[in-house]
Amino acid sequence: MAPSEARTELWREMAGHLPFSFLPAEGRLVNLYLRTERLTLRPFRPDDARAVQSLAGNWKVARMTRRIPHPYPDGAAEAWIAGHDAARADTAAYPFAIDLAAEFIGAAGVSRGTGLDLELGYWIGEPWWGKGIATEAARRLTKFAFEDLRADRLLARHHVDNTASGRVLRKCGFRHANDGYSWSAAHGKDVPVRQFVLNRDPAVNESGPR
Ligand SMILES: CC(C)(COP(=O)(O)OP(=O)(O)OC[C@H]1O[C@@H](n2cnc3c(N)ncnc32)[C@H](O)[C@@H]1OP(=O)(O)O)[C@@H](O)C(=O)NCCC(=O)NCCS
Repeated sequence: MAPSEARTELWREMAGHLPFSFLPAEGRLVNLYLRTERLTLRPFRPDDARAVQSLAGNWKVARMTRRIPHPYPDGAAEAWIAGHDAARADTAAYPFAIDLAAEFIGAAGVSRGTGLDLELGYWIGEPWWGKGIATEAARRLTKFAFEDLRADRLLARHHVDNTASGRVLRKCGFRHANDGYSWSAAHGKDVPVRQFVLNRDPAVNESGPR
């Protein structure tokens, strides 16, 4: 291997272990270890793949999300995690593993959809539902999006029958913006969704619809 290739390999290997990500356009770093009262949000590691497949392989989880396929194929979690460094390097997505007492229990992140706006997403393993985990993680990610990534606004959407997710978004200050349809990998078709928005400027939120 040529020395330059070896350096590139070494950098790739290191990037997966670094506690920060570089924002090329702004020439600054963002911290990738986020803390809340009970949770640690951190970059995924290859050894999370088995738990991702097991928890996200639950139909009750997959059916409410946009991208999780069902059944969850072998190797898909490994491939998804392997793409995270490149997604962050492109500032396209910032996926976080959620740890509760050092145990992996779900995922949350912000990513760019079709437009420039960042969109919030999350799923929690079923054994941990109803304990305020999604709300705690989502609140921390709104702060990450506004303060670290300096987004002006954050979008989110949930399937119309996902009352729990609507509740999470409202508890985080999001407001219902409009309705539409969105692709669901698990359903293999577009499904009706509610779209929500949260602005960095509280004054803009106050002036919008509830
Ligand atoms: C939706 C989801 C993220 C919620 O996670 P969670 O950690 O249980 O959420 P929280 O405990 O923070 O809050 C849930 C809220 O919804 C409420 N809720 C739960 N089920 C509900 C239902 N069927 N109807 C009405 N409210 C409901 C809870 O009471 C709670 O609100 P409260 O604090 O006012 O009582 C979780 O169920 C999940 O991962 N589901 C599958 C994937 C998914 O839906 N991802 C989001 C895609 S938009």
